Amino acid sequence: MGRFPAVVALAASLLASTTVQAQTDIWFPGWVADAERQAGQQLFKDHCAACHMPRPGVPYAPNLVGVAGRPAGSVPGFPYSEALKKSGLVWTEDNLKKWLANNSKLVPNTLMPHVSISDPAEQIYIIAYLKSLKPAH
Ligand code: HEC
Repeated sequence: MGRFPAVVALAASLLASTTVQAQTDIWFPGWVADAERQAGQQLFKDHCAACHMPRPGVPYAPNLVGVAGRPAGSVPGFPYSEALKKSGLVWTEDNLKKWLANNSKLVPNTLMPHVSISDPAEQIYIIAYLKSLKPAH
């Protein structure tokens, strides 16, 4: 059965040459998504959690539970900047990426101090983590 290892090697090289997206869709849907969320959680702890604890009731920054897809500046009771409230933005993935890369460029005069997560992979991980946040009961 000398051919079997060759088939495996061919499959492995095909796998290695497909895009990451295709690999996640076809081969490893569960644990890749978990790994992204975990990487995002660590990045969130390092760069965001001091202000945005992922639970309601923390006053320094708006609660980010459910942020993906909602209009910017829309958590009731949080004293947002006029700039963010009037931005007209919705937190699509694309806008979240721009915010992470350079929030004060996306919304000049925002109250959020500048963060600069310029690595596209890190942006994806953080967004995966944000999407996984559920309201605390
Ligand atoms: C020093 C405190 C601080 C840090 C660190 C911080 N933020 Fe913020 N964030 C804020 C404040 C304050 C606002 C409200 C900005 C405004 O009103 O202009 C905000 C707003 C946001 C919003 C818009 C929320 C909404 O309801 O419209 C998102 C999304 C966000 N931050 C994500 C992040 C992420 C992700 C990180 C880490 C990469 C981060 N922030 C780091 C203070 C912070």
